[in-house]
Amino acid sequence: MREPVTSGSLLAWYDQHARDMPWRVAPHDRARGVMPDPYRIWLSEVMLQQTTVAAVKDYFVKFTNLWPTVDDLAAADDPEVMAAWAGLGYYARARNLLKCARVVATEHGGVFPSSRESLQALPGIGPYTSAAIASIAFDLPETVLDGNVERVMARIHAVETPLPTAKPELMDLAQALTPRERAGDYAQSVMDLGATICTPKKPACGICPWRDGCEGRAAGIAPELPRKIAK
Ligand code: ADE
Repeated sequence: MREPVTSGSLLAWYDQHARDMPWRVAPHDRARGVMPDPYRIWLSEVMLQQTTVAAVKDYFVKFTNLWPTVDDLAAADDPEVMAAWAGLGYYARARNLLKCARVVATEHGGVFPSSRESLQALPGIGPYTSAAIASIAFDLPETVLDGNVERVMARIHAVETPLPTAKPELMDLAQALTPRERAGDYAQSVMDLGATICTPKKPACGICPWRDGCEGRAAGIAPELPRKIAK
């Protein structure tokens, strides 16, 4: 059967192929009502801001063993947290992490807010991270646009406008595909597709759940996209 480019066809793929991550709730558990812990989603997304999944996993486990809740992290000593962060780089992230934990602990009673606006008011949380937390932790239909998602959108719609000019167009396309149901699973499914199949080099188009409707593939230019303005 020819599968169209819809959130439904990607979600069906995700149900079979979701990557296992220590902060993730697997789709079959999510389907029976298990919700992710917003603290763990926030912590993972801050760690993932400039670091790969492979590098983050061990740090994530270490942090959540040392500080299982946001209140535990808020009560930690600064040098202890900085020491645990050592090796992850971009140390401003660790300082903002602690600041954010303390604001959530003192001003929100240890409960992460769910709306993008209130999330973005917290230290270290920008447009990407607020959308990731709102969708993954709270299942709100927010659109996550990172480099992976930009690449996938540019390819399936054969967007030839180079980055960064193409960003608003890619955001519109990403929003149009975001479903109202299963928004968290969907956000993670696009990330997984970009990380495992729709990779920057040599994408595995032959096994892509969106291969039949991919305009970039039809035009034979998928691996070249997204184009970038020459530096
Ligand atoms: N990169 C950033 N956030 C991610 C997530 N939740 N899953 C997979 N890759 C990611």
